[in-house]
Amino acid sequence: MRRSNLLVSRTLAEVAKFIRPGVSTGKLDRVAETFIRDHGAVPGFLGYQGYPKTLCTSLNSQVVHGIPSDKVILKEGDLVSVDCGVVLDGFYGDSAYSFGLDGIGEDVRKLLETTRECLALGIGQAVDGKRTGDIGHAVQQHAEKNGFSVVREMVGHGLGREMHEPPEVPNYGRRGTGPRLRKGMVICIEPMINLGRRQITQEPDGWTIRAADDLPSAHFELAVAIDKEKADVLSTFTYIEEVINKE
Ligand code: MF3
Ligand code: CO
Repeated sequence: MRRSNLLVSRTLAEVAKFIRPGVSTGKLDRVAETFIRDHGAVPGFLGYQGYPKTLCTSLNSQVVHGIPSDKVILKEGDLVSVDCGVVLDGFYGDSAYSFGLDGIGEDVRKLLETTRECLALGIGQAVDGKRTGDIGHAVQQHAEKNGFSVVREMVGHGLGREMHEPPEVPNYGRRGTGPRLRKGMVICIEPMINLGRRQITQEPDGWTIRAADDLPSAHFELAVAIDKEKADVLSTFTYIEEVINKE
């Protein structure tokens, strides 16, 4: 599972090299699919419940599940969340990163930073004996303390031979509630945090989820293995950040 999740991390870093004004999300999708297949894996999302692409690319007020297209061109000031899954040797990897292009507003920069912090706080709760509600509580209180809101309808999940396994891992909740976490379980923690209100709608394409108030939304996701003292984080943003910081 570490190998699958590191491949996702490296794929997102490869995609990061192409993220700039003028690139289409369709191009990003081709970069990802080629990279995944070149490394002996297959895209995890392609064909999942009929999903047509390798990546989900969600722009600005789109929360998740945006479909890459040659007609969607990134521009200055955009926020694009890129979600990627692979299957390598029978096991899934799944992670997401939200990129702010040059020119994003201070409010969006703060949203990205806070969502990253929410994920880190959630991971801090991913230890043997805790419950999913401990993760959700940590994420929710940090998001709301900063004036943002938590999407409720979509949640993190167990990961393994299937992309979505029990337990559900909500980004909201009460301490000491929900399924108990045990050493050896692998879960994806994936806060989806809105700048404005938490409500969402689905676009007519049947996939894309958007903030109902049309304000920006951010999404970061890592896969972690539950362990006794602290989570063993299986995917990483390090490769992405090496690319971003070189620019
Ligand atoms: N990556 C999403 C998740 O974390 C799933 C993508 S749904 C798909 O649960 F249909 F696009 F594959
Ligand atoms: Co996921």
